[in-house]
Amino acid sequence: MPMDLIVAKENEISGQLDSAIRKILIACCPHHTDEFLRGRTLNDHVIVLTSVLQDGDIAAAHAAVIDTTILAGSTKLHVAGVANVCVLPEYRGSRLSHRVLTAAMEKAGTMDFDISMLFCTPELKKIYARAGFIEITDRSFACIENGEQTHLPPEKIRMYFPLGMPKFPDGPVDLLGCRW
Ligand SMILES: CC(C)(COP(=O)(O)OP(=O)(O)OC[C@H]1O[C@@H](n2cnc3c(N)ncnc32)[C@H](O)[C@@H]1OP(=O)(O)O)[C@@H](O)C(=O)NCCC(=O)NCCS
Repeated sequence: MPMDLIVAKENEISGQLDSAIRKILIACCPHHTDEFLRGRTLNDHVIVLTSVLQDGDIAAAHAAVIDTTILAGSTKLHVAGVANVCVLPEYRGSRLSHRVLTAAMEKAGTMDFDISMLFCTPELKKIYARAGFIEITDRSFACIENGEQTHLPPEKIRMYFPLGMPKFPDGPVDLLGCRW
């Protein structure tokens, strides 16, 4: 049977879907079980969209979009941050992450975001590049917390997807907090 692809806003998530999503999040990220028993996000992010492929009652693939703001040079950017991309182990290898990601970006493109952004490990770069994400290599990414500035480590791949803005503006990036 074909799976159902849903891209939902928070007020459209039923109790049944919420619990199916927590199951996939815990299965894919067991080290965050405590957080996912409390909610569907880490670091108090504000989720605006959730993209899910459902196989009956099972959430087989998931991607969330969080609402955040950053600075690139002097340009303030309204960012659709991509979070918690995951596919249940028994469903992996069929590019289901591509389907939830592209559906999430299509919907985010109808909202008032400037860009989408994510951070990932080098092994996962190809998955996001296939979905149209572009790597950013030419500038620093900093966050300031409790008066202390830290920089994103170089091994974290930074990628963006154009939404309202065709390209990532120039200048060093200030993540306006370290909750990414
Ligand atoms: C990353 C993840 C979402 C990709 O899932 P997916 O959509 O099934 O992946 P794809 O089908 O696009 O395959 C990607 C790669 O996974 C590998 N793969 C293929 N079959 C696989 C399987 N059955 N199980 C695991 N990995 C497999 C292949 O190396 C493939 O590479 P290729 O594109 O060169 O063929 C999934 O592995 C996952 O949930 N991982 C744990 C959570 C995580 O790391 N999330 C990312 C946070 S940034």
